[in-house]
Amino acid sequence: MKHVTAVVGATGLLGGAICKHLRASGLPVRAMVRPTSEPSRVERLEEAGVELRQGDLKARSSLDGVCEGARAIISTATSTVSRQAGDSIQAVDLEGQLALVEAARRAGVEHFVFVSFAPMEVDSPLQQAKRAVEQSLMRSGIPRYTILQPTYFTEVWLSPALGFDFLKAHARLCGTGRGGLNWISFEDVARFAAAALESPRAWNAVLQLGGEEALGQLDVVRLFEERSGRRWTLEHIPEQALREQLDGATDPLQRSLAALMLHVALGGPVNPRPAMEAMALRPSRVRDYVERVLADHHLPVGV
Ligand SMILES: NC(=O)c1ccc[n+]([C@@H]2O[C@H](COP(=O)([O-])OP(=O)(O)OC[C@H]3O[C@@H](n4cnc5c(N)ncnc54)[C@H](OP(=O)(O)O)[C@@H]3O)[C@@H](O)[C@H]2O)c1
Repeated sequence: MKHVTAVVGATGLLGGAICKHLRASGLPVRAMVRPTSEPSRVERLEEAGVELRQGDLKARSSLDGVCEGARAIISTATSTVSRQAGDSIQAVDLEGQLALVEAARRAGVEHFVFVSFAPMEVDSPLQQAKRAVEQSLMRSGIPRYTILQPTYFTEVWLSPALGFDFLKAHARLCGTGRGGLNWISFEDVARFAAAALESPRAWNAVLQLGGEEALGQLDVVRLFEERSGRRWTLEHIPEQALREQLDGATDPLQRSLAALMLHVALGGPVNPRPAMEAMALRPSRVRDYVERVLADHHLPVGV
């Protein structure tokens, strides 16, 4: 009987969390890994009891082995951060994901959960790839699909690595910092992705994922200031500069990242309710993230 769920992107931030959730529920999980995957991440999967299969989205024949005997596939893979030789938006996010959908169909997979991202007004090669894969999955003939469209992950976009430096109480804001976004924790996205397998209302559905509140970067700075009693210093990247960065980008990855930054400046709320209702889950709040960060980094907490 087919029962295993194969996770493609398992060595990444989100895929790793999905594997953890599925294993915590006692479900059998298979992860696609590459010889170049970060060894500590592969070890963590093994320790959690995840079966490993070698594969690469660029190597079509390897995808058959990943899909073989799987009841469900959850794909979170993207070339945007963990780039290896030959990885690109075209080769991985577009052609690789299309090949995976096709391999899943051939293997008789019952359910395919694809992690896309929320619609953005500013178009980019990454968005075009995501939408093309969504369309292909919907038409694939795979009995059940779930397309999840999360908005920006708090742990990525509200972190020092992207200029939101809670350690130094300094933020580099996109535009005015007032663009409203429903930031979501990747841990919540992982819970939704795992829950989709068992939630009939999430089958054959396209669901936006986000926090309940749309907040600007500036609102999040205020939350940190209120909770820590520490005043932040701010720097703004003018909207015009972000538009110039987008217009001047020649590489598809640079263009996609520039589009994502411009979208932060412009804002664009999503509707998280249908997903919350379909899976009976409620995402955590940005203020929970603020509390967690202050506690984890032993930062001063005001009264
Ligand atoms: N970050 C955000 O704010 C955000 C918001 C909305 C949606 N998303 C979406 O969420 C998903 C997960 O993001 P994440 O943060 O977990 O990404 P991540 O940490 O960068 O992980 C990417 C994963 O993709 C795998 N991968 C890359 N190229 C591959 C290839 N050629 N063949 C097989 N696997 C390949 C990587 O494997 P290796 O370890 O082997 O390189 C890794 O497991 C992505 O689809 C992203 O578009 C992200």
